[in-house]
Amino acid sequence: MITRRNFIAGTGAAIVAGVCPPLFGIARADDGYIEISAGPTSRKLYHEDAAASELWLYNQVSPGPEIRARVGERVRVRLVNNLEEPTSIHWHGIRIANDMDGVSGLTQDPVQPGETFEYDFVVPDAGTYWYHAHNKSWNQVARGLYGPLIVDEASPAFPPEHDLTLVIDDWRLSRDGSLDFASLGHLMDWSHGGRFGNYLTVNGESRPEFELIEGHAYRIRLINAANARIFELDPGKYGAKILAFDGQPLPQAEYAVYSPMLLTPAQRMDLLVTAGQDFAIEDLSGNDPYPIATFKVKKGSKPVMGVPKLSPNPISEPDILNARTFTIDMTGGAMGRMVETVYNGKVLSGEDYPRTGQLWAFNGVANLAEDPFFSIKRGESVVLNVINNTAFLHAMHVHGHHFRVIEREGATIDDGQPWRDTFAIGPDQSVKIAFVADNPGKWLFHCHMLEHAAAGMNTWFEIV
Ligand code: C2O
Ligand code: CU
Repeated sequence: MITRRNFIAGTGAAIVAGVCPPLFGIARADDGYIEISAGPTSRKLYHEDAAASELWLYNQVSPGPEIRARVGERVRVRLVNNLEEPTSIHWHGIRIANDMDGVSGLTQDPVQPGETFEYDFVVPDAGTYWYHAHNKSWNQVARGLYGPLIVDEASPAFPPEHDLTLVIDDWRLSRDGSLDFASLGHLMDWSHGGRFGNYLTVNGESRPEFELIEGHAYRIRLINAANARIFELDPGKYGAKILAFDGQPLPQAEYAVYSPMLLTPAQRMDLLVTAGQDFAIEDLSGNDPYPIATFKVKKGSKPVMGVPKLSPNPISEPDILNARTFTIDMTGGAMGRMVETVYNGKVLSGEDYPRTGQLWAFNGVANLAEDPFFSIKRGESVVLNVINNTAFLHAMHVHGHHFRVIEREGATIDDGQPWRDTFAIGPDQSVKIAFVADNPGKWLFHCHMLEHAAAGMNTWFEIV
């Protein structure tokens, strides 16, 4: 049964021997490029007796290989497309030069089957990021095209064995345990909360178990790579503090100010845990808490270091008083208010909706129009006033910039307005975000519930 509420669990928890994130699958060519090939790979997602699935993976591993760089370093990746359809890679949360942002059809032509594309960029901020396909993402990401991108501080804050990356995904399995391909593209999902899976993995394993050493401090980097699922977490329950959101450190590690904390699609949360008792990171969104991963604490050497502090990345503060404000009215979806919707310059009616799959809109426009939603001079501050006139929660992502959430429902924010690249907006809620438009080019603003983006919740703005 596909339910939104309960997961099926794999057989037996996998014990993750070392706690080092595996750097498997990375090959560096003679010219210094990391080679990442996107291609089909047959994989048993579920237990041994289950049917295999033809996934689409980077370098044949799920998640794709962890790319690690030092802050300020130049990263060069050669994407080889061994898929049967065009693709591109987006470096999520990296404040990147526009032509390297990897958005098929906006910042580059999609990379055709058999062709390659060279990404070459500098990583300006330390923190937890990820990369994923950005052409028909609702399909390509659901089939496995994503991986972690970790940017270390100039001198890494945590030693590697105390620095864990957990890439979380939910897969929709059919009865035989293989990936349910038939349901990809179901407009029923597109018009509701997106496509949910029923089988949860962390770094490709069901309910992995990690070993921690008593008294030692760990950084646990959570990355939500699911197409549409929102996790609900309560880090305070096991004494974890929050170090960072979406790559950007909080001024100091702190306990969550409310519970549950949402981890929407594409969001990241870095936790700080000083190992005391065994615990599980649980998803609280279902009927019962579901252990995403468990942690066993064993005795060992005395810790040699204290708890490291993360320093802020160089992001400019928006000038809110002099900012230009743009309002986005989000509409559509099941149980939503109907408005006249323009798609590709034409007003949609009746049969056009199922035919085009355009079920959501920003200011009455579904998906990317010819002209930008707004155009602004480099260096100006922007306030986006986002009004969710739909019956669903959404996870809104700005490309190329981090922003502060400055207002929710007319109330100022009580959590210190952390920098984010993706924010949650509840049904009938309004949220204001602010940032300095300091990165020239064409940037997307879209819902990261990938079915919603494909179905219209997608626009772009220009910085000139
Ligand atoms: Cu993580 Cu437009 O994407
Ligand atoms: Cu959405």
